[in-house]
Amino acid sequence: MNNMKIAVYPGSFDPVTCGHMDVIERAAGVFDKVIVAVLNNSEKNATFSADERVEMLERATVELKNVETRAFSGLLVEFVREVGASVIVKGLRAMTDFEQEFQQAHINKRMEPTCDTFFLPTKQMHSFLSSSVVREIARYNGDLTGLVPDEVQEKVIDKLSKI
Ligand code: PNS
Repeated sequence: MNNMKIAVYPGSFDPVTCGHMDVIERAAGVFDKVIVAVLNNSEKNATFSADERVEMLERATVELKNVETRAFSGLLVEFVREVGASVIVKGLRAMTDFEQEFQQAHINKRMEPTCDTFFLPTKQMHSFLSSSVVREIARYNGDLTGLVPDEVQEKVIDKLSKI
């Protein structure tokens, strides 16, 4: 398909949460293909390695046939060009996310005018959820049911309880 609409959903995914999954599933229903792009920039100190984050996303999205996961480094717009995407998808949990996301969307549009950012409001039940909240709960062996996909729960607890 030549005019396939490819969307990139970028983030740290450290680790993937149910909030991320909600955005991925909804974007997959709208665009022909969704590429989940895992940031692997050395200045961001991630808890999980890029390989681990990609692997967790691959497990969680195995049923979504038009979704693939890849790591990227450097500028997001370079990656967007490389994969032939025309859309960046971002989830918004609350107005507090908006300012930074708005700025990034404008900067990305300036660097790559052919690419637009589409914002999806996350479900209200996920508005409190973040990877850092998940890491905090996992560190103390708390229950992650409904916060991270079932497929990755054990891996997240396992890694964080050893830190
Ligand atoms: O999950 P996060 O940490 O909020 O994701 C942020 C991300 C990866 C989308 C953003 O940091 C990013 O796009 N980084 C790549 C570097 C880049 O392109 N910066 C210019 C946009 S401001």
